[in-house]
Amino acid sequence: MVVIWMERVGILVVSYGSRAAAIIDAFVRSEEYATEIYVVDKQKNPFNVKTAKRHAVISDFNLKEILRFAKRHEERIDFGIVGPEKPIIAGVRDLIEKETRIRIICPTKRYAIEGSKVAQRQLFQKVAPEVNPKFKVFDPKDYGSVGQVKKSVYAWLKELNNKVAVKPDRATAGKGVGVWGDHLNTPEEVFEHFLSNYEHGPVIIEEKVQGEESSFQTFCDGKRLIPLPETRDYKRAFDNDKGPNTGGMGSYKDAADILPFMNSRDREKEIELINKVFRELKGKGSNPELRGIPFYAAFIHTDKGPKILENNSRPGDPEIMNLMPILKDDFVEVCYNMLDGNLRKVNFRKEATVVTYKVPPNYGGYATVFPERVDKAEVDTAVDLTRAQKLVKERGDSIRVYPGSMELRAGENYALGSRTVCIVGIGEDIQEARESSLEGIGAIKGGALWHRNDIAAKEHIEKSVRHMKKLRRR
Ligand code: GLY
Repeated sequence: MVVIWMERVGILVVSYGSRAAAIIDAFVRSEEYATEIYVVDKQKNPFNVKTAKRHAVISDFNLKEILRFAKRHEERIDFGIVGPEKPIIAGVRDLIEKETRIRIICPTKRYAIEGSKVAQRQLFQKVAPEVNPKFKVFDPKDYGSVGQVKKSVYAWLKELNNKVAVKPDRATAGKGVGVWGDHLNTPEEVFEHFLSNYEHGPVIIEEKVQGEESSFQTFCDGKRLIPLPETRDYKRAFDNDKGPNTGGMGSYKDAADILPFMNSRDREKEIELINKVFRELKGKGSNPELRGIPFYAAFIHTDKGPKILENNSRPGDPEIMNLMPILKDDFVEVCYNMLDGNLRKVNFRKEATVVTYKVPPNYGGYATVFPERVDKAEVDTAVDLTRAQKLVKERGDSIRVYPGSMELRAGENYALGSRTVCIVGIGEDIQEARESSLEGIGAIKGGALWHRNDIAAKEHIEKSVRHMKKLRRR
């Protein structure tokens, strides 16, 4: 009998949703390390509970509680990684690295530029103004009364012909943004949406840009940025991009690094632009404070080149789930390279992936808009993942199940308020990956969950290709 010795590694994972399940899955699939996972979670995520050596629920991501958990297991933990924006922006890395010897993968508070959309726009304006649409910041500090700001807002709307996007300064994980023609149809609606955000702080009103979106994520070791393959997120709740914005109902990745509506020049331009921002933040030499995923930029490809809708300082959800299952390299090794400032390349299999989320009846207002589609008897019943998990066992290379906003109670899984569970389909091309994703979705029963039917649909992708061709002809 050959006994293979594997080095033990203890990893702290701060988790919110399916994104962390995909990250943990990549760790435990390591063939070089015996992983021991220590999870701080939003709730009792069934996948994480089953996989973790130690699991703690700290729903509000209170930093002191997270630190207490890290300290309790400090002797066993080699490094940590953080998925959700809230603790990153609050400075979880700064605190843990100050109080323990555990090194953390995510930017420090200072470099979590997701924390302020205004600061982001100003940074881009300084180093890469071409990525910004026309924008104006309305800060409550600059206006005495609602009447004053109203006058200013209406004048700006007139200048932009009402074609605007309204964005709160604070991070809202892709939600909270109102767009003319999508969610807002009159100047009064724009102003109402503006005011609901202005009550909480500065708001940006910017020119609405026409184009096709792609998500650009990067790993960073403080010295270099390693761009990850492109993905496309489906933000709107309902089929045909209708309904309110959500955290993302699904996403796709092509077998190549770019998407079907992009060309290699688009990708080069994105890399060039984000590197400009990186160099500005990094300064001379290396800046380990940027380690992690400091740039997950939502780009929109327009007739005037790529523009940035917003930048996040964390992995995208669902976009990172398109990538973790097809990582060729050992993820523990990738993380050590990030920690040691030694990350030169990250290799992915040349496969397509499609993520589809199942969500509860009230998510995105579905039960109100389509009450006839909700099976009332199934609402709040347990969600059965058995058949979907069986598919993973049978065909591990083409399908993955990642629970998100789902809680384990007395051995059964229950949906909470946000995106419940996703299926990643993997294939040679997007349509093959989509079939697997939908097969997994069909195997999940209970909870009156629903999903978008057009994630990565051929017609949807062809529409994007036609749209981009038209824009490029302008
Ligand atoms: N997919 C949207 C987000 O992660 O913010």
